[in-house]
Amino acid sequence: MTETAHKPAPTLTWPQSRHCPYAPPPAYPTPGEDAPLNRMRLFDGREVWLVTGHAETRALLTDPRISADRQRADFPVLLPRNRDQRSVDLPLLGTDDPRHNEQRRMLIPGFGLKRIAALRPDIERTVGTLLDRMLAAGPGADLVAAYALPLPSMVICALLGVPYADHEFFERCSRTLLLAEDADEANAAREELRAYLRRLLEDKRGTPGGGLLDGLVNEQLADGRVDREELVMMALLLLIAGHETTANMISLGTYALLRHPGQLAALRADPALMPGAVEELLRLLSIADGMVRVATEDVEVGGVTVRAGEGLVFATPSANRDPAVYEDPGALDVRRSARHHVAFGYGVHQCLGQNLARAELEIAFSSLFARIPTLRLAVAPDEVRAKPGGTVQGLFALPVTW
Ligand code: HEM
Repeated sequence: MTETAHKPAPTLTWPQSRHCPYAPPPAYPTPGEDAPLNRMRLFDGREVWLVTGHAETRALLTDPRISADRQRADFPVLLPRNRDQRSVDLPLLGTDDPRHNEQRRMLIPGFGLKRIAALRPDIERTVGTLLDRMLAAGPGADLVAAYALPLPSMVICALLGVPYADHEFFERCSRTLLLAEDADEANAAREELRAYLRRLLEDKRGTPGGGLLDGLVNEQLADGRVDREELVMMALLLLIAGHETTANMISLGTYALLRHPGQLAALRADPALMPGAVEELLRLLSIADGMVRVATEDVEVGGVTVRAGEGLVFATPSANRDPAVYEDPGALDVRRSARHHVAFGYGVHQCLGQNLARAELEIAFSSLFARIPTLRLAVAPDEVRAKPGGTVQGLFALPVTW
């Protein structure tokens, strides 16, 4: 009998939805009690490993035998909407080094600490304008529509050189790509967005503005260091990653703080706690749940052998609650050092936009709670609708008042 024949059929399936919007799905194994790697069944019947241990997550995400190449025939398909992923050449996230590294190097200057520090006054201005508008129209607002979504959307548009006037169009495409039930719907949204970005890049040729994409078109594309379709897909990834993730962090982070008034009071009393609080919220909320990889060779980790060709899904909210790293891991504690969390991933694919995300989150939370000290939920906490499992975690709407 082979080793696999002894393995019990997994009862855990993917995706799992959260009950509490900022806690892992109840069906997830508990780090510290259960094994750090568990068998799990995907919608198409395939069995993969769900990785919940912090050390195992970091070891696997830095192991060159673990691939992110979604065009490989053995790469797991997590959801029906990803059925055609093999035909999509996804840069950065979906490629391995050395190609991944070449692509990433082109973008690093646009997301470095210095560049992002220089953007802070613009982010503060944008936040001020959004809060002025929200206050003038209130009391009462949907914080997602009025604040959490437009802020990162406006910031990434300015950074990339995409007209914010088109935001309803690209936000709709991006929502469909991240939430569609089936592949046809997701493919159609991707093609619409690609056609839009192709035209936008074409318009930038020879007449550069100040955006990151303008530079890439007139330097890297003109020099042949990147080809047009590769650049279109890079723009698509940056546009989506740049607004969806941060928007979910702002709404879910606000919700979590409103539900922990003691923590919010501590933060208000000492604004210097804000950078640490942002790390703690990133850890606790772990909105990017379900990074995915495939093993290209056998790898020993966490007491098991992950065989070549086996898929891996990373449960970031579990790894970020590993009691070997964090004391009382389920508690929101704005004073703790939440460093070493894996909310931005780990290894070569670790989030390119993390400096930008941190700046936006710090400014967004500080200004929101300073300008509206009486901010509170306008509905019962359990009436707030969380996004389903299998997508970036967050809230559809957050009714607040003051
Ligand atoms: C709080 C907000 C954010 C969170 C939680 C987040 C999370 C992540 C995670 C977990 C990964 C790694 C995925 C993997 O290894 O499979 C990642 C990669 C990435 N993120 Fe973010 N992200 C955020 C904001 C941003 C922003 C603002 C941008 C700006 C454009 C961005 C751009 C990217 C890109 C381009 C990658 C791929 C990097 C690579 O493959 O080398 N992200 N992000």
